Amino acid sequence: MNRSPAELKEEILRLTREYAETAHRAFLPADQGEHRPAFVPGETTVPYAGRVFDADEVEAAIGSTLDFWLTLGKEGEAFERELAGFLGVKRSLAVNSGSSANLLAFAALTSQKLPDERRIRHGDEVITCAAGFPTTVAPIVQAGAVPVFIDNDPVTGNADCAQLEAAYQPGRTKAVMMAHALGNPFDLGRVLAFCQAHDLWLVEDNCDALGCSYTLPTGHPQGQAGAALTQWTGTWGDLSTQSFYPPHHLTMGEGGAVNIVRDMKLKVCVESFRDWGRDCWCASGVDNTCGKRFGWQLGELPEGYDHKYIYSHLGYNLKPLDPQAAIGRQQLKKLPAFIQARKDNWESLRHGLADLEEFFEFSLPTHATAWTPGGFTWDATGCRTDCSWFGFLLLVRPTAPFRRADLAKHLDAKKIGNRMFFGGNLLRQPVFVQLRKDRPAAFRVAGELTGADRIMNEAIFLGVYPGLSGEMIAYMVDTITDFCRGSRAA
Ligand SMILES: Cc1ncc(COP(=O)(O)O)c(C=O)c1O
Repeated sequence: MNRSPAELKEEILRLTREYAETAHRAFLPADQGEHRPAFVPGETTVPYAGRVFDADEVEAAIGSTLDFWLTLGKEGEAFERELAGFLGVKRSLAVNSGSSANLLAFAALTSQKLPDERRIRHGDEVITCAAGFPTTVAPIVQAGAVPVFIDNDPVTGNADCAQLEAAYQPGRTKAVMMAHALGNPFDLGRVLAFCQAHDLWLVEDNCDALGCSYTLPTGHPQGQAGAALTQWTGTWGDLSTQSFYPPHHLTMGEGGAVNIVRDMKLKVCVESFRDWGRDCWCASGVDNTCGKRFGWQLGELPEGYDHKYIYSHLGYNLKPLDPQAAIGRQQLKKLPAFIQARKDNWESLRHGLADLEEFFEFSLPTHATAWTPGGFTWDATGCRTDCSWFGFLLLVRPTAPFRRADLAKHLDAKKIGNRMFFGGNLLRQPVFVQLRKDRPAAFRVAGELTGADRIMNEAIFLGVYPGLSGEMIAYMVDTITDFCRGSRAA
């Protein structure tokens, strides 16, 4: 008897789950330890990050692939709605990477659809910080604007906001675009006040910080009168971006999103740049959303020219596929647990390594002044951060009997994943050294970049992702402790 497509799909998905439950046990979150392969210290790799998923994601990917719509469709639409709902922003637009999200967020601010005095033009300046991931900055240069680099605080990893005013140039500065470093919110209290004072756009690169929140105290000029104001990072600026590459807080393989916080005019611009630069905003497979597909006269085109083929921007095509969005929807359901696991793992590492202060300067959340086993102490601003950590950042003290590279090599040999803070001081990277030679006016440095250089020379980060079990963290702590003590003895 021939089986119907629905029956066949059901059977395939049942087998898919069975397959995933057998083949992918190593990717389960650590709290499902009883179903994961046993951890063998020194033999099992302890990654710094990676995909964490179960049969739900695999079923969603196969189900969507069987439907074979492929391009962004009903899963994409639902994912965008659900992500925007989680964050509490006006809209989220799915894209194919965090780098694409940054490219689009910045490109949107160059649109002629924005008020003339706010639109970013060739030669306008955008304040960013020197240490971080290159594609936070690249879109500024790619659009012909000028990044102005301020320093980073090596302890938080974030921009040193004391340099903001010195970086500002009346009439030229149009925006601030920077990342919340490794799941640690930057000083939003100060950045928001600065942007408001000078009428600047704020783009938050939230790629490494999904699930962080920030609190402004009662009565803060950017907050509210009668109560403190707490919101997720990625919801304070005008636009924000996410990455869903595997090490990030949730994954769809490759993927990302641009969040439109309030202003739907920006949604029109981001969407246009994402979708070939077109003026039309119909979803894939849909015609005539505007109700006047053949009723427009734009540019020098004849009246009635098909709106689907009218282009108002020099755009791209940066959409993800629908099966990616289907995976992302399953991951979103797990996000609160993932965020909690990252916080718990950071705390476990901090407790475990607490006796090693003589070797390391440990990272602190922005606005924290110290860590104690009972919690953080905080500065007098009243602002607070709640970190959804991407990694556990530490600086190897110049007085330690080993260098950062020695530790990194040792951890590698012990199969413990570790990373440098991305590109370190980006201005020391070959691309910026060359740019300085080719086009000296392509960027500007606002002050000394000693913090960014310290990050480049001394910083290393360890994993905190939800795939790390207690045993793995204990192994990390023991390995690092033995290494430090052994180096002191040597
Ligand atoms: C702060 C930051 N922004 C942007 C990106 C780029 O994201 P993607 O790898 O999805 O392009 C990354 C990558 O890890 C990042 O760390």
